[in-house]
Amino acid sequence: MASQPPEHLPPQHLPPHQQGGPDDVAARTRQILDAHAELEGPLLPVLHAVQAEFGHIPEAAVPEIVQALALSRAEVHGVISFYHDFRTTPAGRRVIRLCRAEACQATGGDVLAADIRARLGIDWGETTADGRVTLEPAFCLGLCACGPAALIDDRPAGRLDTARLEALLAEAAP
Ligand code: FES
Repeated sequence: MASQPPEHLPPQHLPPHQQGGPDDVAARTRQILDAHAELEGPLLPVLHAVQAEFGHIPEAAVPEIVQALALSRAEVHGVISFYHDFRTTPAGRRVIRLCRAEACQATGGDVLAADIRARLGIDWGETTADGRVTLEPAFCLGLCACGPAALIDDRPAGRLDTARLEALLAEAAP
């Protein structure tokens, strides 16, 4: 019997095989495109909405966007790869966006970054093998007075060291 999706996980945190196949992705992307049809320059809002829907920008969404917005595939991929906020693979259940900008580096951000990468066994933009954590760089979160700073699932956290960051992750872990 096929396993059912865990009910407590939102769709974007479900494993890819439970998020719907390419046809489902295409249909949901068309709905998003329809909802943005009146906008001028809709590419960025559409991409943000697609990522909000799926947790990343699935490859199956791209042809729909290309066709609806009369863009080339290269143009759409160019925008996706230009902006750090967009990801093309599913994120982990927790996303750490660790500030890499100067003020946070000056308060220990470099040491923290090296330490957390080593402990998680991943580099920037990667997800742990168990799908628990994705680590992404951020470039100033407006929390410069309390660095090193990060967003953990969009919740701000400051004055971080490795122990505090791991404790926050453990608290947040499903
Ligand atoms: S430099 Fe890290 S939050 Fe501004």
